[in-house]
Amino acid sequence: MSTKTIRRSRLSAAVAPAMLAVVAMVQPALAEEFGPVKPIEVKKELAALGKRLFYDTRLSGDTSLACASCHQPDKAFTDGLPLSAAYTGSAHFRNTPTLANVGHRAAWFHDGRLGTNLNDVTRESITETYFMNMDMRIMQERLKQDPVYIKMFADAGKGEPSNGGARSAIQEFLKSITSSGAPFDTGDLSASAKAGFELFKGKAGCAACHTGPRFTDDTPHNTGVAENPAIWSDPDRHVTFVTYAKFMGVENYMNVRRDLGAFVRDHKQESSGAFMTPSLRELTYTAPYMHNGTIASLEAVVEFYNRGGGNSANKDKRLHPLDLTGEEKVNLVDFLKSLSGNSFDVPDYNPGEFDTEPPVIADWRNQKN
Ligand code: HEC
Ligand code: HEC
Repeated sequence: MSTKTIRRSRLSAAVAPAMLAVVAMVQPALAEEFGPVKPIEVKKELAALGKRLFYDTRLSGDTSLACASCHQPDKAFTDGLPLSAAYTGSAHFRNTPTLANVGHRAAWFHDGRLGTNLNDVTRESITETYFMNMDMRIMQERLKQDPVYIKMFADAGKGEPSNGGARSAIQEFLKSITSSGAPFDTGDLSASAKAGFELFKGKAGCAACHTGPRFTDDTPHNTGVAENPAIWSDPDRHVTFVTYAKFMGVENYMNVRRDLGAFVRDHKQESSGAFMTPSLRELTYTAPYMHNGTIASLEAVVEFYNRGGGNSANKDKRLHPLDLTGEEKVNLVDFLKSLSGNSFDVPDYNPGEFDTEPPVIADWRNQKN
């Protein structure tokens, strides 16, 4: 397989000055300028190797799943489901998040439970029983059996196929996934979307949490999103949740009937029901919304905030009924849509001519690994 250049995002020269304005209403410490997402410099051979691994079902225990089974390029690396599928015999209790700009995050997963680096996120995605349930030693052996990998690892400067090398390649691919071409960045905004941006920063108060180029403060908050009953009515989902809650040290995990969110990070009551502020990039590709996929459309999201969010004792004090007019709701939705750019279903990111059948080795007696 060729080591294609991972094209870095096209940045627009013409960023409207208004978009660079610092949000006046957020606390100074949080204030970050809006504007295009900065591409991360990646090593192209390593990212190309990571891309092949990302699309390879041999990275899951029973070879039924690849990262891309749940993170699909035409949906900005989500899967369109309210709750994700999971490894054979389990079903996930969370919505698959977009991987757009994921290299810029400060903490990962909806509960923010991994606050270290993408290496840990990648390891967890491969080995966790309900993700891909893979034993890294077996993975290494499988990779070593494929001449395409042997060449790609060598070309990427990683020697023989190894677990560490595979993880660093996948991370490199993840870091290459950068948003580009959104009307918000190119300055090609409708009057309605412009009005929506003003509401977003002003009357609607959205920028208090959705700030910076990715429109997130990388912090958990409680907005009172309702539970998704499917987690408790479907035994496969419930058992997956129980596995997770037990591992995270949640007391009474057999009887918990709600997703505790960021509580698992610090075991403090005030974190219960708080979820990481998601990025608002690429929303037109990533419905349904929220950590549990319970809100189907952007219109419904705006309606949710207009009511002051959901019901929760811990709800963030900044949420309150907004009293938006019909036109203002349309403006906000148009603004949110203007944050979506080019599809990731292009050669840099999609599987292309991906082929897991190794080529026939003509002269196998003289083949050296
Ligand atoms: C079975 C579906 C599934 C598979 C397979 C899968 N993921 Fe995910 N991914 C998810 C879900 C669901 C979450 C959110 C989990 C949570 O919040 O607890 C997630 C979260 C992530 C995140 C964190 C995103 C963020 O913004 O916090 C990254 C990065 C990621 N996955 C990368 C990968 C990689 C790399 C692979 C392959 C090695 C992979 N995933 C395989 C469903 C999947
Ligand atoms: C107090 C902080 C806060 C404020 C203010 C806020 N949000 Fe959010 N937003 C969040 C959090 C946290 C989530 C994730 C909740 C969850 O997953 O349960 C979220 C989720 C969303 C989502 C879903 C994204 C996805 O990929 O699932 C959209 C869209 C959104 N917010 C838009 C807005 C808009 C528009 C406003 C203003 C009307 C706003 N937010 C105000 C914190 C906030």
